[in-house]
Order: sequence, then C-alpha cells, then structure tokens
Amino acid sequence: MKVCVVGASGKLGRYMVQHCLDLGYEVVGVCREKSVGKLDDYRDKMTILPGATNDRELIKQAVNGCDGVLTVLVPWGVQQYASGTAQAVLDFAQPNARLIFSCGWHITRDNQDIYSRLLKIQVVIGRWIGKITRMLELDDQVEACDRIFKSDTKWTVVRGSDLEEGESQGFPVWSHHIGDPILESNMTRRIDFALFMVDALVKDDLIQEAPAIVGCQTPSALAHSS
Ligand SMILES: NC(=O)c1ccc[n+]([C@@H]2O[C@H](COP(=O)([O-])OP(=O)(O)OC[C@H]3O[C@@H](n4cnc5c(N)ncnc54)[C@H](OP(=O)(O)O)[C@@H]3O)[C@@H](O)[C@H]2O)c1
Repeated sequence: MKVCVVGASGKLGRYMVQHCLDLGYEVVGVCREKSVGKLDDYRDKMTILPGATNDRELIKQAVNGCDGVLTVLVPWGVQQYASGTAQAVLDFAQPNARLIFSCGWHITRDNQDIYSRLLKIQVVIGRWIGKITRMLELDDQVEACDRIFKSDTKWTVVRGSDLEEGESQGFPVWSHHIGDPILESNMTRRIDFALFMVDALVKDDLIQEAPAIVGCQTPSALAHSS
C-alpha cells in the first residue's frame, strides 16, 4: 500500500504518518516548506514533498501511484486553500484510490445534522473572525466538501468532534448525523481521529460516506454503542 498524506506536518498529519508506517505502508507526505522540520523524526522513513497543499503540480506528483490519499482539509487564509487542495486530490489521484478527507462536525452532507446552540455560535464567530482577519475561510471548507460529495471517486469525509491529546483509546465510533445520541460527548483523541482516517483506507463500507466520529470511551459512546 502506498499512501500520500496531504498536510503531513500538522498534529493530525503526523499521527497519520505514524499509523501508516506502523502498518508498513509506503508514505509520501506533502507539507509547507517551513514545516518540513516537524517531520524530522520520519525523514528516513518517508518521502517528503515541500509546498502548499493547493499546489496542483505538487499534488499531481505526490499522489502518483498512491492507493490512498489522506487529506487534512484546512481553510487557512483567503486563497481557496481547502477547495484547491481537495480539487487537486480529486483530479489527480488514481481512479481507484481511496481518498479520505478530514474536517469538523460543522460540515453537513444532507442537512440532516442537528447542531447544538454552542456549535452554531462557534461557526458564526469563526466565520466572522475569519473574514475580518482574512486568516480563515470557513465557507471554502464547505465548498471543498461539496465538491467531494459530488465526486464519483472513492471518497470518505471524516467529520471530527472536538479534539484532545492523550493516549489512544481505540477506534472511534461513528454515526451518520450530528445530533445522534452516540455522538453527544463531542470529544475524540486526536491520535484516534488519525486511526480512523487510516483505517478508512481499507473500509469499503465507508466509501462515499461522511461519518461523524466520537471517542469510543466517551460516556455517550459507552452508553449507546450497542
Ligand atoms: N478542534 C479542532 O481542532 C478540530 C475539531 C474537529 C475537526 N478538526 C479537523 O482536524 C483537522 C486538522 O487538525 P489538526 O489538529 O491536525 O490541526 P493542525 O495541527 O493545526 O494542522 C492543520 C494543518 O493546517 C496547516 N496550516 C496551519 N496553518 C496554516 C497556514 N497559515 N496556511 C496553510 N496551512 C496551514 C498545518 O500545516 P503546518 O504543519 O505547515 O503548519 C497542518 O497541515 C482539520 O481537518 C480540522 O477541520 C479539528
């Protein structure tokens, strides 16, 4: 298995690199030039291609020959960063490659998600601050996911809850819609978010699904997992 991690130097990205290496996969990582040092621990174990993740030529080179692509979707700046990244992966990955994308719970596929008042407020504030500071383009992440949802590739969009650091608790549980009782605890260890993303590469039941995940040891997961 040859896997490309797009956004390999971030927190989620590095956990995904580690999980892939643990499984014996060949790993290619894309990350910003200034962040290459964050991958020093893996330098001899993977191929690193420095550059912006929405650089189409770079992504074309990175995904060449890959059976799977793990993409950290982030809406930084006002530069169509998330949609540019997603579009490049959709355009250049091998036809049968499994394409796994990360995002937060705020992304909805079918408008059947029921959001808490807190999350709605956080999204409004995030959108507003992002626009004023020009640091964040939340709508572009929505655009990126809309393009993925319309694609006929073998995609999976993994929607992460709030995240925390800590030792692995095991594979997160998932459900179709925010608001489902099993997701109520709204917390996942970042290391396990990465575990879910990497495992999705070989889970056919997740093709063209947008699972919303939560830690398997959280109270809501323990109460409802049966
Ligand atoms: N509460 C949360 O944090 C939360 C909740 C749910 C879901 N998620 C999802 O989790 C994923 C990422 O989480 P994370 O914890 O790994 O975040 P992270 O460590 O901040 O990394 C995110 C990525 O963004 C890149 N990045 C940071 N600043 C940038 C900039 N100014 N321009 C371009 N790229 C930049 C990082 O690259 P560098 O290494 O080069 O900085 C990295 O690849 C996202 O898909 C997010 O939607 C997060």
